[in-house]
Amino acid sequence: MQPRKLILDCDPGHDDAVAILLALASPAELELLGITCVAGNVPLSLTSRNALKICELAGRSDVGVYAGADRPMVRSLVTAEAVHGVSGLDLPDERCLPEPTMRLRDQHAVDFIIDTLLAHPAGAVTVCPIGPLTNIALAMRRAPEIVPKIREIVLMGGAAINPGNVTPVAEFNIYVDPHAADVVFRSGVPLTMMGLDVTHQVLVTPERIETIRSCGGQTARVVADFLSFYCRYDRSRYGTDGGPLHDPCVIAHLVDPALFACRHVNVQIEIASPLTLGQTVADWWQATEAQANCHVAYAVDDEAFFSQLTQKLSTLP
Ligand code: RIB
Ligand code: CA
Repeated sequence: MQPRKLILDCDPGHDDAVAILLALASPAELELLGITCVAGNVPLSLTSRNALKICELAGRSDVGVYAGADRPMVRSLVTAEAVHGVSGLDLPDERCLPEPTMRLRDQHAVDFIIDTLLAHPAGAVTVCPIGPLTNIALAMRRAPEIVPKIREIVLMGGAAINPGNVTPVAEFNIYVDPHAADVVFRSGVPLTMMGLDVTHQVLVTPERIETIRSCGGQTARVVADFLSFYCRYDRSRYGTDGGPLHDPCVIAHLVDPALFACRHVNVQIEIASPLTLGQTVADWWQATEAQANCHVAYAVDDEAFFSQLTQKLSTLP
């Protein structure tokens, strides 16, 4: 079977970094057409620089990395340095990855998304946003003709049943740019949502970190350091033995959809209420006549997830 073509839109961020590496470690299943960056966990200048660092870590300076939106469509940018550190990719003991030598591509990320979708047959390209949806929504607004060409959007974001992680009901990626999420969720493109309902079942424990650390080469060792730094915040916040590993769920689903259970329901985005702004309102029990528009992941085989992740990371240099 031909590998699935995808555009990965991200805001690295430690979990974004692991998602990028998982995609690069899955050439039989995935063809990464390009990485587009958006402001989110940290400002755009850092998310795009971090994406370059991650590609070079994996020895993949051939991958096109494109900078996109530096702010949400309407709201002011909210970032997450408390989770990811000031650089967005902090390591324990104040270490950090070397400055990248590869450069960003000149084209704006939104133009890359549009041109790539228009250059491929309808249904050929999957779009995988794992940060705020700003780049995706801007591309849809600027070139509505791309909407029917997208095979599907598999995103990390939202929370159908689970509480939010930024407000009592909103998850970070949707909360940062709810207006962009509203454009995407109303677009009619087939959606699969890897939200907190399932990512909070994928917990990075100290044991799993050490398994990753010893599974391969330098890249796996750095991933273990990423996870050691990244999980400290959520472990203390949630009082759990591990932190949820959000973004790689998108890639793991593409590599092996059998890992996850999803339900096709209607999901709408709250963009007006100060109390519930950014909530992904899921009609879980068909209380309304609203048409289902999103496959929401609600269960995962977490042991199989980590086996897949470890095996794939072991193949990287
Ligand atoms: O809520 C978790 C999401 O917000 C993840 O994508 C993380 O990287 C941050 O972007
Ligand atoms: Ca992210």
